[in-house]
Amino acid sequence: MTDADRSDLLTAIRSAIAAAPNADTAMTQAVRLLKDAIPYYSWVGIYLLDGNELVLGPFVGKPSPHTRIPLGRGICGAAASEKATIVVDDVNADPRYLACSLETRSEIVVPIMENDDVLGEIDIDSDTPAAFGDADRRLLEQVAALLAESLSED
Ligand code: SME
Repeated sequence: MTDADRSDLLTAIRSAIAAAPNADTAMTQAVRLLKDAIPYYSWVGIYLLDGNELVLGPFVGKPSPHTRIPLGRGICGAAASEKATIVVDDVNADPRYLACSLETRSEIVVPIMENDDVLGEIDIDSDTPAAFGDADRRLLEQVAALLAESLSED
């Protein structure tokens, strides 16, 4: 995917989020657009923070056994605790990893932040090793910022 394709995708996601009547629809549209546009995104989902747990919201891909993840667990819990994007090139080499599918090889988790508060996160798995680069991180951090606005308006 070229930079221009990514820019078009971000524009489409921004429009969909702006047109969505509520944050749930905005999140559903965003995960669908990301999954459809980028072939190496095998599973795309959003977790929302509820107390000390991350609760699975809209997702596209196989059902995950991890519908609630405590903040101290998994790569998801680590990204929320550290309030920072985490990219894992080889999930099987990362002791934090909670397996969702045997095919998954790499993962990116991007917190959705409002000021210093974590609202949730975008979690993407890939069946390709080391699938996520700087361009993915930039795109997903921009999508996370759009979702933060939508969630804080609800
Ligand atoms: N792999 C995640 C768990 C969520 S599933 O990938 C959908 C983790 O280690 O936190």
